Amino acid sequence: MSVLVARDLARHYQVSRGLFRENAVVRALDGISFALEAGQTLAVVGESGCGKSTLARALTLIEQPTSGSLQIAGQEVTGASKAERKQLRRDVQMVFQSPYASLNPRQKIGDQLAEPLLINTGLSRAERQERVQAMMRQVGLRPEHYPRYPHMFSGGQRQRIAIARAMMLGPKVLVADEPTSALDVSIQAQVLNLFMDLQEEFGTAYVFISHNLSVVQHVADRVLVMYLGRPMELGPSERVHDRPLHPYTQALLSATPTLHPDPNRPKIRLGGELPNPLDPPSGCVFHPRCPYATERCRQEVPAFRPLDERLVACHYAGEVGVA
Ligand SMILES: Nc1ncnc2c1ncn2[C@@H]1O[C@H](COP(=O)(O)OP(=O)(O)OP(=O)(O)O)[C@@H](O)[C@H]1O
Ligand SMILES: [Mg+2]
Repeated sequence: MSVLVARDLARHYQVSRGLFRENAVVRALDGISFALEAGQTLAVVGESGCGKSTLARALTLIEQPTSGSLQIAGQEVTGASKAERKQLRRDVQMVFQSPYASLNPRQKIGDQLAEPLLINTGLSRAERQERVQAMMRQVGLRPEHYPRYPHMFSGGQRQRIAIARAMMLGPKVLVADEPTSALDVSIQAQVLNLFMDLQEEFGTAYVFISHNLSVVQHVADRVLVMYLGRPMELGPSERVHDRPLHPYTQALLSATPTLHPDPNRPKIRLGGELPNPLDPPSGCVFHPRCPYATERCRQEVPAFRPLDERLVACHYAGEVGVA
């Protein structure tokens, strides 16, 4: 059974354009669908502003979607009672880009890790402490770190604490929003490995958000590529990485430096600027920046259709760009 199912998820924001003008609508998230199995990782990639954090907030119930449906462990979120939502919130935890966002600078980290147990379980003080120390070991911290404060740790260690805190109640899903991009390059791989080890140990499903497709290729089973809140391509990460079908995915990949550049891969430069989200392009939203765009792309919204083991929203997918 899927632990997380999103169907046509949308989140629209009303934005004021000033006095005497009507509010505009930003479709930060529009028509996102996927299913995620236990122990699997879905990566979500796309440029700044494509709606990745908006998706993360919807999945972790921080914000209500405008429309669409979300199921966590088989239970529908929309329409759930307050008590049910509280339980569902435990099942989906979040790790932020900056651990400062989730750690209290004035509380000992051991106490911060124990807090979810204090609120949600009937464990005794000694039992809580034992659980916390076990989890600290699991994320590569030492039990004697218990009485220290967040500022006494390095950035990488702080992110380990944030991960430990998110894992304390054994969530079914962990949503990680750019969890390594604020860290030194040398530390990033270690933290990625920690995510992988924890997944193996606990079978947690991950939604792993990044702007770098090459980073997530190694940790993800499937990849969802987003542009202006819409899905562009969704498929097995290896397939998407090795043979991207959407011109936007191709462009994202050729913009990322790699250790072993593939000489056969077509180079696409991502020209132009990201369009104004208040006034998205007609037809295919990517068309003003797409080197293959035709009149059809300007007029007709491409369906998100199955092709070559994945879904892709491009009229010409499979015909353009790929070697
Ligand atoms: N509360 C809000 N009110 C109005 N617009 C919003 C709000 N939150 C996000 N947006 C808009 O929604 C779009 C998606 O934003 P979001 O933060 O989800 O992007 P992102 O992919 O996480 O970007 P980044 O890579 O920079 O973190 C943007 O156009 C943003 O300006
Ligand atoms: Mg973001």
